[in-house]
Amino acid sequence: MLIDTHSHIYLSEFDEDRAEVVNRAKAAGVAHIILPNVDKETLEPMWALEATDTKFFSATIGLHPTSVDAEYKKELEWVKNKLARRPYCAIGEVGIDLYWDKTFREEQIIAFEQQLQWAIDYDLPVIIHQRDAFEDTIACVEKYNCSKLRGVFHSFGGSLEEAQRILSLGGFYLGINGVVTFKNSKLSHVLEQLSPEYLVLETDAPYLTPAPHRGKRNESAYVRLVAQKLAEIYQQPVNEIIEITGKNATKLFSL
Ligand code: NI
Repeated sequence: MLIDTHSHIYLSEFDEDRAEVVNRAKAAGVAHIILPNVDKETLEPMWALEATDTKFFSATIGLHPTSVDAEYKKELEWVKNKLARRPYCAIGEVGIDLYWDKTFREEQIIAFEQQLQWAIDYDLPVIIHQRDAFEDTIACVEKYNCSKLRGVFHSFGGSLEEAQRILSLGGFYLGINGVVTFKNSKLSHVLEQLSPEYLVLETDAPYLTPAPHRGKRNESAYVRLVAQKLAEIYQQPVNEIIEITGKNATKLFSL
């Protein structure tokens, strides 16, 4: 099963042609798409898209680190209420992002830890976003790690040492997207030293568009280009890569 485990095609970037984007994904063989939430603003459009085909889409709930500010306690209360009201396939996306702004580092850590605790309480996988914050992020996950904690480090682009530290947690996968197709990316050399048994595929659409479409809007159909790049790296047929990563995603998100 070709699964896009991280796609924001509910965002306004797709308002003009969302149905065609979904049709192109299905035509490319995509069998399922996970829709990670960002914050209060994205919940309604995400739900609306999920409702169009509940067998094809799965929504998640969480507060994204770049949406954490001085009002974060109110926002967390909002996540808590939403979480109690209906089922979700994961907590996400959550984590720590110090690339854009370090002002709310402490608040980001508190919000992340609270949401890790909810992932454990609700027995849900967690979709982790980190940027320029690997040490802070892994420290939080290691602190909360237990037999129930599992998830994905989405948009993984780190070193072999970082990958090994994530995988030694036990229940975690690395989310691989178009970055692996970028000419200047060292990611393929890191992945060569890891088994595809630890990987799931994603696009992060509309961002991080794979080659040869770089510079344009990304969409879920392009997850196949990520699978093709992994097939090159592992010198395995693309269908094997799709099967292995699809099994990983199915297991992680209970699809
Ligand atoms: Ni995302």
